[in-house]
Parts: sequence; structure tokens; C-alpha cells
Amino acid sequence: MKISGTGSVLPKKVVTNDMLAEFLDTSDEWIYPRTGVKSRHVISDEKLEDMAIEAAKKALDDAGMTASELDFIICSNVVNEYITPQLSCIIQGGIGATCPCLDINCACAGFIYALDIAESHYKAGRVKNVLIVCAEEPTRMTDWSDRRTCVLFGDGAGAVVLTPGDNIKGISLSSASATDKLYQIRTLQPTPYITKEEVDIPLQMKGQDVFKFAVKASSSDITKVLKENGITADDVDHVLLHQANIRIINAIRDYLEQPAEKFPTNIEDHGNSSSSCCPILLDECRRKGIFKKGDKVVMSAFGAGFVSGAALFEW
Ligand code: UT7
Repeated sequence: MKISGTGSVLPKKVVTNDMLAEFLDTSDEWIYPRTGVKSRHVISDEKLEDMAIEAAKKALDDAGMTASELDFIICSNVVNEYITPQLSCIIQGGIGATCPCLDINCACAGFIYALDIAESHYKAGRVKNVLIVCAEEPTRMTDWSDRRTCVLFGDGAGAVVLTPGDNIKGISLSSASATDKLYQIRTLQPTPYITKEEVDIPLQMKGQDVFKFAVKASSSDITKVLKENGITADDVDHVLLHQANIRIINAIRDYLEQPAEKFPTNIEDHGNSSSSCCPILLDECRRKGIFKKGDKVVMSAFGAGFVSGAALFEW
């Protein structure tokens, strides 16, 4: 398969670090050097599904394709207003597609997992055109009085259209159950029979544990996918990493011993938009003309679970 179209959408409300300092015991002096985030786009009156549909339409336009030509839609999403139906079915209706749809929840690594699922369908000869949409609103998961979490996140949707080709060279996935490091719990509807105590807990994070996992997992996934393709980091032109913390990005860069120019970022004014980070960054790089034909691009992401992955492709 190959990536033939990209699109992304951000909410219009921009929240700066100084705006957060108006109601939180925090400051730009703490947030920026510790995370690399200056501002983030936060959902206000938008609906996530509308953003997802718009990102999908942009990617279809970019690929010069109509929704009726799609054979499969995969949506990566952690939370949205609906528990059911799945968001991919809502996107399907919004763009006017008729193909089967699937939602996945692989936290921030969702785009890489979606690529892997798509690749299996290509290898089985079951699809020609696939749409992946990552749509996330992590700002609705955090406690906005908790300065350790809410300052990190922003919202957004990113989409890609895949078509037949051989540009995706390899994908490496890994999972390591560590469910107490990054999680959110919500209550379900009560029944007359529930006797256990249930709690509603906003996003909880053991930041330093996630940090260490992120550096180790992404470094190892990238090394593995490069090795499987008989190349080294020196042969790669661009490394697109999950935009969780600039210090995580720099630590992975140090491990790979590569120059900063190879690592495009948008964390400074986007923050961490979970699985949407990768396709949004991909779309922005593509529209800026950063990728040249034949460039080798590696992407990697990590998230709650823990799950992580890396994908290598040739532009
Ligand atoms: O998609 C994956 C999602 N998550 C991640 O990737 C997160 C990975 N982890 C991180 O990015 C970092 O661990 C954080 C940015 C979350 C935290 O940075 P840190 O250098 O690990 O700080 P810390 O948690 O050790 O906290 C240091 C101090 C604490 O104060 P005390 O206990 O030393 O007095 C915190 O209370 O900084 C305090 N602090 C803050 N102060 C001002 C934590 N958050 C803030 C804040 N503003 N926003």
C-alpha cells in the first residue's frame, strides 16, 4: 500500500500556557521547557465527529478519490461522546461511503496499529482503497484542575487515504501491559444488580514511567523496523514521532544519533492529540513540501497500555 492523500483539522480555540496559568498553579516557564508545548487547540463548540469527517474529506480530496471508492475505513479513537455506534460508522455516513468500518482504541499509537491492520487487508487482497482517520479529544479526558496532565494535551483529527503500492516498507508493533501508568475510568449505567463500588476517574498518569517507556519503546521499535529493512537511521530522511513531549523526542533523537532537522515537530502549538498526532504531523509536513519523492520516512508512537509501534515508508 501507499499513502495517496492526507488531511487534518484542528479546533479553532487556541489555549496558551499563560491562559492556563490564569486558573492553574502553573506557568509558561514550567510547561515550555519541561514539555515543549506553548499552546494547544482545544475543542469548544466543535463536535469531534465533524472534525473527523472534515479531515477524511480533505484526505479524499487530496487523493482525488470519492468516498464510494473506499473499501474499508479504520478509525482510531480513545473517547468521543458515543460509546456506540463506533465513530467510523459516523464518519462513513458523513462522507457518504458504503464500505465496512472498524474502530480501534490503541491510545496514542493508534495510527501505527491502523496502518498494520490496513496492511493485512492489502496482503490478503481484500481492499484497494482504505481510509484511516485518527480523531481524538484528550482534553475531555483530563481533570482541568490537575496541572500534571491537562497542560499536555490538545485535540484534533488527521486522516490518510491508502491505495495499492509498495511504499510502506515495514511496521513493527509492541505491547507491554502496564495498565496503572496511564488510564481513565468511567462509570457505566447502574443496574439493580451492581453491588461493587464504581468510580469515575479522569486521566491518571505516572509521568516519569510513561516518559521512560516512551523513549525505550520507540527507540526499539524504530531500530527493529530499520533493521528488518536492512537500513540504519543514517539512511532515513525524516523521523515523525508522537508529539507527547519534546524531551522524549530529543531523547529518541539522541539514541538514534541523528540531527534535529530530521525530526519535524508541531508540539509547540499543538500539544499531544493522542493518535491524531502522527497523521496531523504527516499532513502538515506533506503540505509544507518537506517530503521529496523517494525520501525514507519513519514514524513512531507510544501510549497507554502500554502500546507502541513504528512504520517505515518511502515517499
Ligand atoms: O501520549 C503519552 C502521554 N504522556 C506522556 O508522554 C507523558 C510523559 N511524561 C512527561 O512528559 C513528564 O513526566 C511530565 C511533563 C508529565 C512531567 O515532567 P517531570 O519532569 O517528570 O515532572 P514531575 O512529574 O517529576 O514533577 C516535578 C514537579 C512536581 O513538583 P514537586 O513535587 O517537585 O514539588 C510537580 O508537582 O513539577 C510539578 N509540576 C508542575 N508545576 C507547574 C507538575 N506539573 C506542573 C505544571 N506546572 N504543569
